[in-house]
Amino acid sequence: MSGFRSKGHPGKGVATDDASYETMTADVLIVGSGGAGLRAAIESSDAGASTLVVCKTLLGKAHTVMAEGGIAAALGNVDPGDSWQVHLRDTIVEGQRLGNWRMAEILAKEAIDRVYELEEYGALFDRTAYGKIMQRPFGAHTYRRLCYIGDRTGLELIRTLQDQVFKRKIPVMDDVEVTSVFKDPATGRVSGAFGINIRTGGFLLFRCKAVIIATGGCGRVYEVTSNSYESTGDGAALAYRAGADLMDMEMIQFHPTGMISPAGVRGMLVTEAVRGEGGMLTNASGERFMEKYDPKRMELSARDVVARSIYTEMVEGRGSSNGGVYLDIRGRGADYIKKKLPSMYSQFLEFAGIDITKDRMEVAPTVHYQMGGIRVEPDSCRSTVPGLFAAGEAASGLHGANRLGGNSLADILVFGRRAGLAAAEYARTAQPGRVAEYDAGDEMARLLAPFKVKGGQNPFALKEKIASVMWKYVGIVRSGEGLAKGLEEMLAIAAESKNLEAKGGRTYNQSWVDSIQAWNMLLVCEAIIRSAIERKESRGAHTRSDYPDRDDAHWTVNVIVRRKGRGMGCEFMPVQKPPPELESLFRGG
Ligand code: FUM
Repeated sequence: MSGFRSKGHPGKGVATDDASYETMTADVLIVGSGGAGLRAAIESSDAGASTLVVCKTLLGKAHTVMAEGGIAAALGNVDPGDSWQVHLRDTIVEGQRLGNWRMAEILAKEAIDRVYELEEYGALFDRTAYGKIMQRPFGAHTYRRLCYIGDRTGLELIRTLQDQVFKRKIPVMDDVEVTSVFKDPATGRVSGAFGINIRTGGFLLFRCKAVIIATGGCGRVYEVTSNSYESTGDGAALAYRAGADLMDMEMIQFHPTGMISPAGVRGMLVTEAVRGEGGMLTNASGERFMEKYDPKRMELSARDVVARSIYTEMVEGRGSSNGGVYLDIRGRGADYIKKKLPSMYSQFLEFAGIDITKDRMEVAPTVHYQMGGIRVEPDSCRSTVPGLFAAGEAASGLHGANRLGGNSLADILVFGRRAGLAAAEYARTAQPGRVAEYDAGDEMARLLAPFKVKGGQNPFALKEKIASVMWKYVGIVRSGEGLAKGLEEMLAIAAESKNLEAKGGRTYNQSWVDSIQAWNMLLVCEAIIRSAIERKESRGAHTRSDYPDRDDAHWTVNVIVRRKGRGMGCEFMPVQKPPPELESLFRGG
């Protein structure tokens, strides 16, 4: 299998029953063009593999650009006491001992090199007075550790990685929704993937030896989220259908501070950097309420703690006029705010008509991140399916029950690189696999079904239904009863989803794409709810009103979701114990 080839073009106006496809070939197919996907592409290409990146919207629009506050890496530029050991400890302890120690060790050690590498690639970091990369405090990091570019770190990261991808002439196809990963029926190894060219409506078959899933998370399965419309959990659904294990799916992070009004921007991220730069949280009576919940760390406590504290203030009737709480950065002065938080300044001014140098912000928790995802081997990002790799938010293991702010940008650089390297190495020795004709046929029949339905369900409305069930029953505080009801309603929606109707033709048909994404969302939601029902304790982001305590004796396990017959089953896997020299770092945590 040599370099990337594109045979022909399906052209415009593909008939709704057309079952032909265009074939493309690469050694390594990368699904997703956020930070993890682009970093993987650089490494895979540098290792000599023909590499193709596909993404479902436009290159440069990945959700990574919404990551604002910074990249966590123990450079020690501002606090010389910092080290990879302290970063590792913070990651494991604040992940409530559910995270994989080896992944955390790799992250803490390698994030440092990845940040300097990004600087070499051309990222324009903020600087200390001595010209070093500047670092700011963030919740539950022992030291000032986040390397940043104002409050636009993700945007600069993507710009910089894109430059490197262009420099290497790595092909990127945008507007491609990948719908299935194929395996050779004889070997069970990945042999390709299938998808839709959204622009033309044509089908695409990718023949490849390895697939890296770097599709980000699933925030859009909730009504209120900081995530962009792309975050529909496609990666977990693709991997699960291909037979891979999912893990820790119940662990959904609520970022403490999202916008609450006007309605059109509800959930939009208000970066933790606001609190890192001195922002204070207050309730309706002006009380700085974090004093009650974590007097030591206050606003810079762990995200799960701050989100639950805000939630408590809101439900106990001490909320702000629009039902959230107040976030106040005015004390820093206008010049400082505009310099350090330029996006926040314009976001509030443009969307809410609020000048944050003069007025308080109103904020409430918003769904932000999935700690769970595809189960991977720590060093290589290999999933449980040979030839299938995952990196970034689509993968699980690193963050345990609660992710530290800034560890996601570190994650995508560190594990994006490792996934690219491992996939290229795998592809170097693997034989090209066979794609069974019936796999492509079955997949096209599945995908074309919404065109055959007349008078069926509106796919966008069904997506909204899913999100409202998740918001109602699978939120910050859960209960066995609520989760059971949530599962029942989700399975009923899944039954309805067999009747989705895509009106019109195949070219740029959003309702068709919505149908496909709705099926993915349903699968992911079922995995989240089933895992949440199983975990009968409270830990990190998973709070159960009926099991309010952390129960290490029974629940120091990861919940694994895998196919069981024609249904979905959960199993438990004890969290791997670290070697003694690392265990000593975590003592008391
Ligand atoms: O608040 C933020 O800027 C988000 C950062 C993160 O989730 O890592």
